[in-house]
Amino acid sequence: MVFTPSGRIPGGKLAELLGAWRASGRPSSRVLAGTLRQLVLDGRLPPGTRLPAERDLADALSVSRTLIARALDQLREENFVASRRGAGSWVRLPRSSAGDGHGGWYPDPELVNLAVATPGAPPELGPAADRARVRLVEHVSDHGYQPMGLPGLRAAIAETYSRRGLPTTPDQILVTNGGHHAFALVLRMLVSPGERVLVEHPTYPNTLEALRSLNITPVAVPMVATGWDVEQLAATLRQAAPRLAFLIPDFQNPTGFRLDTEGRHRLAHALRRTCTTAVVDETLVDIDLTDEEPPPPMGALSDRVITVGSASKSFWGGLRLGWIRASEEFVQRAVAGRAAVDLGSPVLEQLLLHELLGDAPAVLRRRREETAARRDDLVAAVAEHLPHWTFRLPDGGLSLWCDIGAPVSSRLAVVAEQHGVRIAPGARFSVFGALERRIRLPFTLPGPQLAEAVRRLAAAAAALPERSEADGWHGPVA
Ligand SMILES: Cc1ncc(COP(=O)(O)O)c(C=O)c1O
Repeated sequence: MVFTPSGRIPGGKLAELLGAWRASGRPSSRVLAGTLRQLVLDGRLPPGTRLPAERDLADALSVSRTLIARALDQLREENFVASRRGAGSWVRLPRSSAGDGHGGWYPDPELVNLAVATPGAPPELGPAADRARVRLVEHVSDHGYQPMGLPGLRAAIAETYSRRGLPTTPDQILVTNGGHHAFALVLRMLVSPGERVLVEHPTYPNTLEALRSLNITPVAVPMVATGWDVEQLAATLRQAAPRLAFLIPDFQNPTGFRLDTEGRHRLAHALRRTCTTAVVDETLVDIDLTDEEPPPPMGALSDRVITVGSASKSFWGGLRLGWIRASEEFVQRAVAGRAAVDLGSPVLEQLLLHELLGDAPAVLRRRREETAARRDDLVAAVAEHLPHWTFRLPDGGLSLWCDIGAPVSSRLAVVAEQHGVRIAPGARFSVFGALERRIRLPFTLPGPQLAEAVRRLAAAAAALPERSEADGWHGPVA
């Protein structure tokens, strides 16, 4: 189902997105309005989407038309819904809204933003930018279009793979505008609308966005308490025959798991047996919070793997640079395919990343130390203010995947904004708007900000409307 801004979302589909909105028992217009508002704020219901007729929505949700009418009245008052006689109602984003409808990037000085799990730039960025500016002179007489990326940068990226045990030539690297762009390019090349792509559940929300935008069906394989159920993954590859698998073994976003060596071999075997290509997203590979020897890269175990990398978490998201690592033949095809959407990445940023790769040992050591310290700060704050929330300490990555004890995370996200903290509710990471017991809490901000955010979250949890023992919700400890 593609939701173009003026498309109408069917009642059943909207009911699916609304998920467990009535989990507390008696449905109320206030909770329905709040959950719909949250869908708009976190981008799952793009502004402009036309809503089903009141009667259809009432049927789909098994509630009265009066309740629907009341919820829509409230959202009209808040400017989240607009209506016109003959044209029906559609969702919109109020100008003053703290959300931007795209997953919470929009800066708001009043809010502590825990919806985005990405750290600031390292101090090496400034000096590296000065060196890059000097090197830019070598390029200015050239036209500046480099659809594959600058040769020196590609060689430096290739070298990082060779060092990790995956011999790579510069011609196997295509520089892109971020890891997500890399995935989107591969997706457009390999998968057609209506086909299936296997994803972990939960998974990275923008991947789901990319699938939705191309009318590609996600096939979800649940992550379990120990990480990947490789047997189930293999069975799904056999039975659903997806065109592609999208996997994040280093380190899974949002759960923080890393797939162990044995699991990797079994996964590689399953890919081979079913002739499935996998995109392995290594955006978070450098944020290793263990002191263990890393397992081999998936690309070293299977030639069915296309690896996607990124500078965003290791260095800085503002560089907007990532890459594809694949066979030379695939990279050539990807360069040709890229021409349909963009013509290359900015030269100055590529020079800057090349410089930063030279600083990588120091930058990454500090990044890991700082991330581990911030994780400890967040863990301590949650233990103090929300002691009934549970989580597993992640192997790596930038967030805690919290079980909040009741299926209320979208409702909590709504109330949390009013208490000055923005969070990504579990449903954002879900194929079907499920995972309402979960919240992703990133530890990318300095400790004092994290502590303040958790205090605000605890206050929001205490103020959660209609919470009840029936929710299994015990509220925070003061
Ligand atoms: C697993 C995963 N893939 C891709 C991205 C996006 O990366 P980029 O900023 O390089 O586009 C992220 C960012 O959070 C991520 O967590």
